[in-house]
Amino acid sequence: MTIETGPIAQLQQQAIETPEQFWGQAASAIDWDSQWTALLDDQAAPLYRWFAGASLNTCYNAVDRHVENGRAEQVAIYYDSPVTGSAYAITYQELQHKVATLAGALQAQGVVAGDRVVIYMPMVPETVFAMLACARIGAVHSVVFGGFAAAELATRIDDAKPKLVLSASCGIEPGRVVPYKPLLDSALELAEHPVQGCLVLQRPECEAALQAGRDWDWYQVQQGVAPAPCVSVAATDPLYILYTSGTTGIPKGVVRDNGGHAVALAWSMKAIYDIDPGDVFWAASDVGWVVGHSYIVYGPLLVGASTVLYEGKPVGTPDPGAFWRVIEQYKVKSFFTAPTAIRAIKREDPNTEFLARYDLSSLTALFLAGERCDPDTLNWSADTLKVPVIDHWWQTETGWAICANLMGVAPLPVKAGSPALAVPGYQVSVLDEAGEPVAAGESGAIAIKLPLPPGTLPTLWQNDERFVQAYLSRYPGYYLTGDAGYQDEEGYLYIMSRIDDIINVAGHRLSTGRFEEVLATHPAVAEVAVIGVADKLKGQVPLGLVVLKSGVSLTEEALYQELIALVRQEIGPVAAFKLVSVVSKLPKTRSGKILRGTMRKMADRQEYAVPATIEDPDTLDLVQSALNRLGYGHAGATG
Ligand code: COA
Ligand code: AMP
Repeated sequence: MTIETGPIAQLQQQAIETPEQFWGQAASAIDWDSQWTALLDDQAAPLYRWFAGASLNTCYNAVDRHVENGRAEQVAIYYDSPVTGSAYAITYQELQHKVATLAGALQAQGVVAGDRVVIYMPMVPETVFAMLACARIGAVHSVVFGGFAAAELATRIDDAKPKLVLSASCGIEPGRVVPYKPLLDSALELAEHPVQGCLVLQRPECEAALQAGRDWDWYQVQQGVAPAPCVSVAATDPLYILYTSGTTGIPKGVVRDNGGHAVALAWSMKAIYDIDPGDVFWAASDVGWVVGHSYIVYGPLLVGASTVLYEGKPVGTPDPGAFWRVIEQYKVKSFFTAPTAIRAIKREDPNTEFLARYDLSSLTALFLAGERCDPDTLNWSADTLKVPVIDHWWQTETGWAICANLMGVAPLPVKAGSPALAVPGYQVSVLDEAGEPVAAGESGAIAIKLPLPPGTLPTLWQNDERFVQAYLSRYPGYYLTGDAGYQDEEGYLYIMSRIDDIINVAGHRLSTGRFEEVLATHPAVAEVAVIGVADKLKGQVPLGLVVLKSGVSLTEEALYQELIALVRQEIGPVAAFKLVSVVSKLPKTRSGKILRGTMRKMADRQEYAVPATIEDPDTLDLVQSALNRLGYGHAGATG
């Protein structure tokens, strides 16, 4: 049976051949303060700017205009927090009031358009208010995920150079309170950039000590301030910076602009997720990640939908029925999560006894992204939920889906293992080493022909050079996604692996380069290699192999504990680093390159060929024993 992809192909063609018409029409969903002079400004190509010359305010589009247009009493945010036992709804009117007041307080602290504000906060409504308050006054927010340690926060502070940091006294993980303030204090000590001050939200679970003259109580600073109006900004002005893992330990500051972002997200809410104004949409992610930015905060609010802000986990808060309870309670229409979350639920509720307790009749589709979706997880979800399960592929850099099944336009048959076709606006190609497109079914590097559509990154924060070098120089005229895979005869894409050192742990993107940097600082470590190995629950987990300096007196067990603790302290608990072993020598090529790919295949029990250029084949036996010790093995070498 051939699949009828005609309607999508037509849209793809329109978006590429007549972008003025396609994106011009999509832009009518946004209220502009002034029109653009160039829909796509290509004067600085390969750096492109969408909606150049236009002005708007993203917060106005996400909040105020809904209050003005009859949605004042509609719920904007359903906050649901099983970890604190609280839940309440916030209407658009209330949201406007909260955001405008906080924006007024930021202005009173001297924050003006273009200033950066770092937000290091848990999944509470105040975090969303903070993001929108920045957008309201044209300040650029940079949210840092709460699972990152002080050193990671410090690196981001030094790059973004914020005037203020907004934080909370603590986050709450199942079974433990995570005090944020000591992490913030230590990050500010580590950072070279001096911030002017910090606003701290005191949560009852853990009150933080405030440093006089630098830290201010969140609500006290808002007392008596005048609510701030929306400031008109250029469509090309940055709305936010979101740091993501690169191949080196220094994260990349992905920039998102105001105009293209608003247009693309509003378009995607209907086209991809089939969400209309008034519908309830839930992305069970964290605001610290791109999914949270795009689909907990901006996307649903831009179109006047209701969003769910869930402070909890798929399991253990209190049980594997938690997601289904939320879907029933708020009548969620489209639900988005990572495959890991589904695997966690499946593991604890294999016979769907918890699921059976809830009425999921409001749910029309489940969307999965953040990591490769294995066919088992997709099929299990489809069989149990009895709704289409839509794998879609995207990255922090793009901000919205590159490949997806357009549920609001023309749903296509699902092929397990594939996020379907390129979304209109993205010209996806699979290229060989020489930059030539490969035939259907053949693997290669996945690249996107320039220009990228609206909403994608225009550059890296104050670093055009790194942007060009990291993404645009490998294949001139293309954006390098860093993913590898293949396309079938019908254009369905299959994302199989990364071509760089990025790993995906429970849907969290991390750099093995950063793990190696941290482990190398331990006084006992002479050399180290970290690889991502397959994990049934988290997709991948990091595994470290270390070569010791001579004369180390620590026992191996004590050393492992120190190394694990070091990574947790330097990168954060989210690194989930638990597998480490000593080897006397690492396998390398004669030119000194560590054979990480071979080790990964050994760990994942895949066939591998002993590279002809290996310096010392016996090192593979050393790796094998270390992997066996950690419970990983191999299928054997070929050739
Ligand atoms: N603040 C502080 N610590 C955090 C944190 C946060 N915001 N988020 C996670 N952590 C901690 C966890 O408590 C855990 O600590 P521990 O080592 O003391 O147990 C560690 O970081 C690893 O967390 P996580 O990766 O979440 O693993 P887990 O074993 O606690 O839970 C899952 C497993 C599958 C339930 C969980 O990974 C999950 O919900 N995944 C969904 C992924 C997701 O939403 N990804 C976003 C992209 S769409
Ligand atoms: P992040 O920037 O954290 O969103 O991570 C982006 C990376 O996660 C992508 O480059 C892929 O490697 C991986 N990824 C995200 N979604 C998918 C998907 N649906 N299928 C396969 N890999 C995915």
